[in-house]
Amino acid sequence: MIVVTGATGQLGRLVVEDLLTRVPAGQIVAAVRTPEKASDLAERGVKVREADYDRPQTLTSAFEGAEKVLLISGSEVGRRVPQHQAVIDAARQAGVSLLAYTSVLHADTSTLPVAPEHRATEEAIKASGLTYSLLRNGWYNENYIPTAQQGAAAGTIIGSARDGRIAAASRADYAAAAAVVLTGDGHADTVYELSGDTAFTMADLAADTAAVTGVPVVYQDLPADAHAKALTEAGVPEEFVQMLVAIDAGTADGQLADTTGELSRLIGRPTTPLRATLAAALGN
Ligand SMILES: NC(=O)c1ccc[n+]([C@@H]2O[C@H](COP(=O)([O-])OP(=O)(O)OC[C@H]3O[C@@H](n4cnc5c(N)ncnc54)[C@H](OP(=O)(O)O)[C@@H]3O)[C@@H](O)[C@H]2O)c1
Repeated sequence: MIVVTGATGQLGRLVVEDLLTRVPAGQIVAAVRTPEKASDLAERGVKVREADYDRPQTLTSAFEGAEKVLLISGSEVGRRVPQHQAVIDAARQAGVSLLAYTSVLHADTSTLPVAPEHRATEEAIKASGLTYSLLRNGWYNENYIPTAQQGAAAGTIIGSARDGRIAAASRADYAAAAAVVLTGDGHADTVYELSGDTAFTMADLAADTAAVTGVPVVYQDLPADAHAKALTEAGVPEEFVQMLVAIDAGTADGQLADTTGELSRLIGRPTTPLRATLAAALGN
């Protein structure tokens, strides 16, 4: 049995969809915080089980009979290390043959603000003695849809990423990589740096937005403090302001730029270009 946690999330749903093309539905467990949200999957024969990272007893029963588990990193920043530890403990108790985890690019060295929790989780996985596959995901193309929408409305995209490049890919690409690892052989104790085949700058994002919407859009790069001020004035909550500015600093530093081809090699096809994702979301 293959268990996917966070299966009602955006990535989790795509992983389950991909798995359904590879294995019978009855071999898939959607381990979710709110089972009612997965009733459509249950109707298609997927086993739906309650699994809340904050309630370890649910994890124990959700992982019964599990061979492989995909831990999709939680969304509650700041609380994830104990939450993920609970999943690791339950996977160990269930005796799974592989624990895969959605981490972040270069989790061991990254200075991006999301990296410390991923690094701590990776260390906990290694310390558990479980056989693992670390899926160090780069950024999603979809992260830029709201920016592109705002840019199309305002004519300008602001940021402080300078000419830093971003090798993003679509969520579906990362989901396919997870499904490959969960259903194939040869992934024991692996670390994959997964990213898009091509990398774009924020100026490219503005150009792609203009191309798919037909509206002129330019990128305006700002010093970090001016970027933070503009975000605050636009009503962005303070903790997000700091996070967004720190991500742009990491982007400027090239931390999201790698185009290693590991993702396309794993999924056996090119990754989805940013423009295709933007066209699907906001094209005319
Ligand atoms: N690479 C990137 O660009 C990028 C961007 C954003 C996030 N991420 C990371 O990748 C993960 C997956 O991305 P996504 O787009 O699928 O995010 P998402 O749609 O927000 O999904 C997060 C999933 O985590 C589940 N979750 C949160 N807290 C939980 C808990 N206490 N117990 C059980 N499940 C819990 C959510 O459950 P519910 O369905 O019940 O809400 C949801 O299924 C995120 O959680 C985050 O760690 C990566």
